[in-house]
Amino acid sequence: MTRTPRSPGVLLRLLPLAVLLGACGSLDGGPVGVGGLSFAKSGSIVTDDGRGSFRFGAATAATQIEDRNPTTDWWVFTGPKEQGGLAKSPFVGEASRGYTLAIEDVKLLQEMHLDSYRFSIEWARIEPRRDVIDEEAIRHYSDLIDALLAAGIKPMVTIHHFSNPTWVDDPRDLACADGPTDRNLCGLGHPVGGPLVIAEMAEHARLLAERFGDRVDEWGTWNEPMNYVLAAYGLGAFPPGKNRLFNFIDEFLPTIRDMLASHAAMAKAIREADRRDADGDGRPADVGLTLAVIDWVPSRDGQPSDDPADAAARDRLEYALHWLPVDSIRNGTFDANADGVPDEQHPDWQGTLDWLGVQYYFRGGVTAAVAAVPVLDLAPCFDAFDLGACIAPADPTFCVPVMGYEYWAPGLHDLIMDFSGRYPGLPLVVTEAGIQTRVGERRAENVVRTLEQIGRARADGADVRGYYHWSLYDNFEWALGYEPRFGLYSVDFTTYERTPTMGAEVLGRIAEERSVDDSLRERFGGIGPMTPEPGVPENPRTCNRADLAK
Ligand code: BGC
Repeated sequence: MTRTPRSPGVLLRLLPLAVLLGACGSLDGGPVGVGGLSFAKSGSIVTDDGRGSFRFGAATAATQIEDRNPTTDWWVFTGPKEQGGLAKSPFVGEASRGYTLAIEDVKLLQEMHLDSYRFSIEWARIEPRRDVIDEEAIRHYSDLIDALLAAGIKPMVTIHHFSNPTWVDDPRDLACADGPTDRNLCGLGHPVGGPLVIAEMAEHARLLAERFGDRVDEWGTWNEPMNYVLAAYGLGAFPPGKNRLFNFIDEFLPTIRDMLASHAAMAKAIREADRRDADGDGRPADVGLTLAVIDWVPSRDGQPSDDPADAAARDRLEYALHWLPVDSIRNGTFDANADGVPDEQHPDWQGTLDWLGVQYYFRGGVTAAVAAVPVLDLAPCFDAFDLGACIAPADPTFCVPVMGYEYWAPGLHDLIMDFSGRYPGLPLVVTEAGIQTRVGERRAENVVRTLEQIGRARADGADVRGYYHWSLYDNFEWALGYEPRFGLYSVDFTTYERTPTMGAEVLGRIAEERSVDDSLRERFGGIGPMTPEPGVPENPRTCNRADLAK
């Protein structure tokens, strides 16, 4: 098992922080550094010198914002039973009307002076039935790309963001009774269907590159694939709703293997089909993927832990979620039993990653525990597993209600440094960071604190090329429905009116000035208590959802 330099327990990890606090700020809210942070404008995420140039953006995903989206697996998975749906979680319905309002929404990005928009293209719209292409849908996304470019906003396209057409892996037919058919390919990880899905994903990526490659240079194959495979194929919480986690070696890891193979196949297809250098940086296509990164810390019985067994469990989880996927692609290998030693060679995976997106929301505890997550033998601080792994937050205002986790700003710096150290030469982009809140001040704090931590990492030598806030506006938060609010713009879900939050105002000012000035840092920055969120108890035992509800 690969050990990372960041394995000591929480107490040890707090030491450098104490030094930092003494030097530049305090837990009561002082700034983490002195002086404004500046971010010169960047053209490309891959060819510029990342230390000198930077981009500001906002992100969304098609299923989370688009209305009238009935050919997705989410529509079926969440739809009411009377309409043939499975009603497994809140109905996605009209989402944020982001399909109808797509062109109008471009002005929201413009109002914030953003350089780039990261959005996904809904595969189920483009190809509602296998091998049937909807030209109307192609035209829609083409118009969106044109509108972005006309507004001086660079498109970054995500190909797969947590959703499929139903024919890829039909949630209504989990047993895949008739074997792979055109109506149900049976999905990744299926011995016969898996390779078919990989080929279909590559064809879909090729089509997007053919149709949009003249104007798009930046492609993300997968959004947070480890989280997705865990939720959709491990725990059954996302469509299709398969529970393979407890058959870890024989079913779960093969699904991960297929996912990695599909990344490589999509990357190859994009590079073959997108030959036009749209932005003049000398490169027609920059292919990356984006990874959820979590600041895991050893924990036990609700407290930070110094027990070496918990530290080792933390390392195993970090390896499985962070290093295994990226190592596989970088090295062209696969660790088929997740024991830390690669045992398969996949040379065609190698060289398929031009940049890596990191997406940061929280810090969470990990406890060594047999009979929790199999093979890895650990329990992470997640609803499904919290066996005392969740720890009390450094300050109660760091609790993020509804989501049930702790926002800890410096975790982003530490994670960026870890990735930067492990993968020298790989440009990093913070393709998502944000916070669930209904309080504008807290969103503004999240924006400023995120940029402070990115600024620290850049000052420490990390090559970070940009920051995209999640999300442009409130939307459908997957299995949690519409209660969580992540938008820079809040959405009224009866009129669909978009209203800027204080987060939009602050990000807009920063992007216009290309710097975070002292006054913003004094008001919103630092690592101390945040503006309280109504409903969070003053002294929560942990930030676990169940505890916050008490
Ligand atoms: C996902 C988004 C999600 C966000 C907030 C990320 O995991 O990419 O789709 O809405 O986190 O939870």
